[in-house]
Amino acid sequence: MQRLAVKTTPIVGQKPGTSGLRKKTRTFMQQHYLENFVQSIFNAIDDGNGFSHKTLAIGGDGRYYNRQAIQKIVRIAAGNGLGKLLIGQGGIMSTPAMSAVIRRRNIYGGLILSASHNPGGIDEDFGIKYNSSNGGPATETLTELIYQKTQQIDTYFSIDHPDIDIDHIGSIRIGDTTVEVIDPLEDYVATVEQIFDFEKLRRLFESGFRMLFDAMNAVTGPYAKRIFVELLGAPPDTVINGTPLEDFGGIHPDPNLVYAAELVNRLYAKDAPDFGAASDGDGDRNLILGKSFFVTPGDSLAIIAEHAKDAIRGYANGLRGIARSMPTSTAADRVAASLGIPLYETPTGWKFFGNLMDAGLCTICGEESFGTGSDHIREKDGLWAVLCWLSILAHTGRSVAEIVRLHWQRFGRSYYQRHDFDDLDQNAASEMFSSLRTKLADLAGRVIADRKIILADEFSYTDPVDGSVSKGQGIRLILESGSRIILRLSGTGTAGTTLRMYLESYSSNYDSNIDEILSPMAEATVELIELEKYCSRRHPNVKT
Ligand code: G1P
Ligand code: ZN
Repeated sequence: MQRLAVKTTPIVGQKPGTSGLRKKTRTFMQQHYLENFVQSIFNAIDDGNGFSHKTLAIGGDGRYYNRQAIQKIVRIAAGNGLGKLLIGQGGIMSTPAMSAVIRRRNIYGGLILSASHNPGGIDEDFGIKYNSSNGGPATETLTELIYQKTQQIDTYFSIDHPDIDIDHIGSIRIGDTTVEVIDPLEDYVATVEQIFDFEKLRRLFESGFRMLFDAMNAVTGPYAKRIFVELLGAPPDTVINGTPLEDFGGIHPDPNLVYAAELVNRLYAKDAPDFGAASDGDGDRNLILGKSFFVTPGDSLAIIAEHAKDAIRGYANGLRGIARSMPTSTAADRVAASLGIPLYETPTGWKFFGNLMDAGLCTICGEESFGTGSDHIREKDGLWAVLCWLSILAHTGRSVAEIVRLHWQRFGRSYYQRHDFDDLDQNAASEMFSSLRTKLADLAGRVIADRKIILADEFSYTDPVDGSVSKGQGIRLILESGSRIILRLSGTGTAGTTLRMYLESYSSNYDSNIDEILSPMAEATVELIELEKYCSRRHPNVKT
């Protein structure tokens, strides 16, 4: 078998965003595109000791091009003289499972092939992200280095070897590299079994409790069947859309009220099950529903934190701290205060939680974008959140709606929505932001939608562990009585620019109509930022 050094030239635009490099699938299929990026990862993670004693894992969410990409990466890994490559059987591994594999097996890192909740297919999206030895997403420093390497690359390494069998567990040698196909469920299931009391959850299902889990034809299907059906004894029809498909069956695998329509309809129907949940393309997001009841991700984070110590075995010693991304609602802040533990506010993106968890500063963290997780791994974890809710339901014996209402009674309610304006012109959107920046200094003291603006600034974060500073992380208007308006541009899109507008209004009165409260705020914000003037838009594409 011959190792190959293939000449190449840098390709522009291989800059990782909020979560790895995401592009149109056809872009990834261009000559050298994937090879350049993967070799640049190898170049960036090279610590000078070579790769012969290192192990990496690889797996993806099963979307179109997953299998072909894995075959290419097998050859690049062997070309770079990697010691061992672990591949999830069938090329499948959820993002949280990858984190579990890296941590439990103490390996150097892993490559996840996924564009998360973006649609899949030859005309849709593909992505690659690298996770480091703590199991978490590459830090900004590393993704910046990877980007630099993509701009300098002149050679990638490969090997002359045909495609290998990735569908059967086993191991082969390619050059100096051992390639092992592993069960992608094993490490993950073992990890959650340590946290949750499976006996107690079995009894919940034995008592006739009914749940519906929508895997959205994406990666969590096999995990959900193993955990809910085989291990917890739920009936097989508990899991819907449970087989990973290359195009997710045409579903947009983003578990929110708009895209998880089948699940939402069934939970809002007459004979609805007690509990509904969904996860996204790569299994790190979650949607939580009760009978005709939607739990916002911000409330879900707060409620999991509130009950963790009593209801979930793995947190019986209490929580060290809670972290949330800046745009996420402040519901968790109130729980942290009542528990007497610190609350950390980080920029958007899971990578910022890693340092906090590695340093033992926080146990549970979450984002408004349907991501919740804990220090059991270093990624957000959709099924973990579902197991948390099952544990809380089993422990309290109450319904989802009762649990949330009791939380609001005790802490008040953050009425919360995110409005997404997709497909904006990039230049127009950045001009709009520039203009808004110049206005910030004069906004404090003014009134917006009947609320006084206390502070208007651009969020900047100093990591309390390593002191690194991340600037330009979203514009915040902090309003009186615990309300906020946040604006930022998405870092995960593959076409056009998406403006995210986050609206939060806090009140001790928890039974008001959310639209009546938030619509005036939304309209006033559209006026303030002159969205119509710059981007010819007034209305969002998606409200979650
Ligand atoms: C979005 C979410 C963010 C999440 C990321 C990856 O990023 O807003 O919370 O961490 O996807 O799942 P954005 O497109 O806003 O940059
Ligand atoms: Zn995801």
